[in-house]
Amino acid sequence: MSSEKLNRAREYEKREAVLVPEEQRPAFHLSVPTGWMNDPNGFSFFQGWYHLFFQYNPYGTGWDAMHWGHARTQDLIRWEYLPAALAPDEDYDSFGVFSGSAIEEDGKHVLLYTGVSEKEDADGKKEVRQVQCLAVGDGVDYEKIPENPVIDASLLPEGSSREDFRDPKLWKEDGIFYAVAGSRAADGSGQIALFSSEDLKNWKFVTILDRSENRIGRMWECPDFFPAEMQATGSQAPEAQATQPPEENTRVLIISPQDVMAKWPELHNGNNALFLIGDYEKKNHVFRRHTVQSADYGLDYYAPQTVEAPDGRRILIAWMKSWDTNIFPEGYTWNGMMTVPREVTVRDGRVLQNPVRELEQYHGEPVCVEQKHVHEPVSFPGINGRTADLQVEIEGRGFGKFTVSLAKNGRWHTDLIYDEESGVLTFDRTCSGLRRDVVCSRSMPVPKKDGKVRLRILLDKYSVEVFANDGECVMTSLITTPQEADGICFSSENGVQADIRMYPIEISR
Ligand code: FRU
Repeated sequence: MSSEKLNRAREYEKREAVLVPEEQRPAFHLSVPTGWMNDPNGFSFFQGWYHLFFQYNPYGTGWDAMHWGHARTQDLIRWEYLPAALAPDEDYDSFGVFSGSAIEEDGKHVLLYTGVSEKEDADGKKEVRQVQCLAVGDGVDYEKIPENPVIDASLLPEGSSREDFRDPKLWKEDGIFYAVAGSRAADGSGQIALFSSEDLKNWKFVTILDRSENRIGRMWECPDFFPAEMQATGSQAPEAQATQPPEENTRVLIISPQDVMAKWPELHNGNNALFLIGDYEKKNHVFRRHTVQSADYGLDYYAPQTVEAPDGRRILIAWMKSWDTNIFPEGYTWNGMMTVPREVTVRDGRVLQNPVRELEQYHGEPVCVEQKHVHEPVSFPGINGRTADLQVEIEGRGFGKFTVSLAKNGRWHTDLIYDEESGVLTFDRTCSGLRRDVVCSRSMPVPKKDGKVRLRILLDKYSVEVFANDGECVMTSLITTPQEADGICFSSENGVQADIRMYPIEISR
């Protein structure tokens, strides 16, 4: 039975979403129907569909009174909206239905989310409580169970915060349900708690899998924890890389830490999203972290969450925005998009990410420029546009800097600059239509591979996602450049050999 609050949200979004002109929306990224979206939630496969929920305020373009919005897709590219799934309509979640996850169990769609409530004490001081709650449904309608909350902070080690305890990620392994959740330890910094259950309703605290100890920011949000699909070492094209069965003990713990202080190249200031790669002694639930890797070196990326596809691929999606900058075009009634879903594998101790292969179904006729010497700024017929899959490979030495300018006309440009000497790729959106004095540039190391640098750039109206060297490092950023700026231009300080291939992306709705 849906509550008044949920019905209201459903009616509101039905009325408002259709008012957004279709050409305003990104072509192949999921955007919020109306209002505000943040974290991806409940990314799962249920009865033949991938479902994705999201943190959602239908009523305005800013964060408020979190609901769960809902969409589904069969190919991870073309999405269909479903009615909002959860509203903040119970005592234990009256302040907000925060992030969580979903699985299919016994033909039912099970959601585990954070319920937030706020109470005022006698002195008017606000006390926040975050607890984990269950809702069960059929893919459209969900019931919160009477036993809620199913996990509260009293299970956590002594001194852990009752206020910061959220974002459970649920999975089933060897017949047991597990969930990881973000929490704040007695020292005030982040920790990831592991819980287990046999029936989804009664939960036990198992262990703390990893902790910040004030080294990697403060609160750790939005964890995910999964076994790595290993990729054979050394080979080049992703198609050519034989995938090996998951190596039993390598696991990736994803965290989204807050209040991080920059440390090049893996950490930038503010909210980050990180892959903690390590090995997991399953029997004793001991995770040993080996590496910390930025999940995305760009400016607008947070709270990634994964699902295991029916064919075994690990697919990751993230919120394409930064809490600190909150960029969106002026005058829009919708504010929020997700990244393109990405296939995740591990090679040589690093997580690799590439756009899901389903995107290729939407490739139009390619335009190719082969073995071209690029020096003075040059553009090529047919290589332009704001919705494209652009693949660039450069080879050679002594070229100095190589620049790809995107979303370009006489007034605007967004630049990707590769500096051969430092092996660093920089994204610069200073001239990309922004009206706020926000951070405009970010860099990542991209070492040459066999003397080459390969960039795959996904453009979709307001976003630029760059996958370097077959997904070894990725950067995602937003731009608000007027759409008529659709030129693409290449140049290099001393001249370089380039191969360029551009697929327009064509989605008919
Ligand atoms: C991360 C986050 C989560 C929380 C949600 C609230 O972006 O702060 O920790 O569940 O957003 O909307």
